[in-house]
Amino acid sequence: MKIKKDKLPIHIGFIMDGNGRWATRRGLPRKMGHKKGADVLEKIVDYCFEVGIKYVTCFAFSTENWKRPQEEIDYIFGLLRDYIKKQNEKNASSGNNELKQRNIKICVLGDISKIPEDLQKELEKIEKDTDNCDAFVLNIAMNYGGRDDIVNAVNTLIASGKTKVNEQDISNALYTKGMPDPDFIIRTAGDIRLSNFMLYQSAYAELYFTKTFWPDFSPKHLNKALNSYAKRNRKFGKLN
Ligand code: FPP
Repeated sequence: MKIKKDKLPIHIGFIMDGNGRWATRRGLPRKMGHKKGADVLEKIVDYCFEVGIKYVTCFAFSTENWKRPQEEIDYIFGLLRDYIKKQNEKNASSGNNELKQRNIKICVLGDISKIPEDLQKELEKIEKDTDNCDAFVLNIAMNYGGRDDIVNAVNTLIASGKTKVNEQDISNALYTKGMPDPDFIIRTAGDIRLSNFMLYQSAYAELYFTKTFWPDFSPKHLNKALNSYAKRNRKFGKLN
């Protein structure tokens, strides 16, 4: 069933959980789950773009994920590096960046000063090169935490000399400045929590939890989630 445009979320957040369990159940190393997860992410982002969703935020690495074994951390950084490098190379070789051609902007949410320097540079380059694109925005949450986002915003506001702030000031100082809040947050793999994802921005987000592991998540699963979203009555505190 095709969902009417006005019933689609403008901004979806994905908490891509279950990569490790997906791999372990197949007798594979955990990193193979992340690899499949990265492929699935590309397909899901393409699908979101096709159906007319404007913003996608993917939770690629949290401020808490540093507690994982270094080998796994390096592998996740490697997947992101491969993806971003591929996009930057397309740009350098032909002048035609697939992302740019499709008018897709990439933004990084989080403090990337802690991640490997070469990856920081690749990310900064793709952000700069796609800065004017406005058909679709892919936010990559990297070393991102909702609490860190708020603390960083407060420090930015203090540094600007403000002594009193309102909700809009805080929104404008978050990593998502200028973007609409997520309307819909999908978490895969069965756990029912936000795990420090977009805490300020999710105040009125509709939440969707599925037992499907992220590497098994497909456009079919996304359609089911979008149908659930389309039926919801978003009241924002009003009576109906
Ligand atoms: C959670 O599953 C997943 C992550 C912490 C990493 C997600 C990263 C990717 C999908 C790759 C990102 C790549 C790009 C190109 C942005 P888990 O490991 O916690 O799974 P588990 O709960 O089953 O152990």
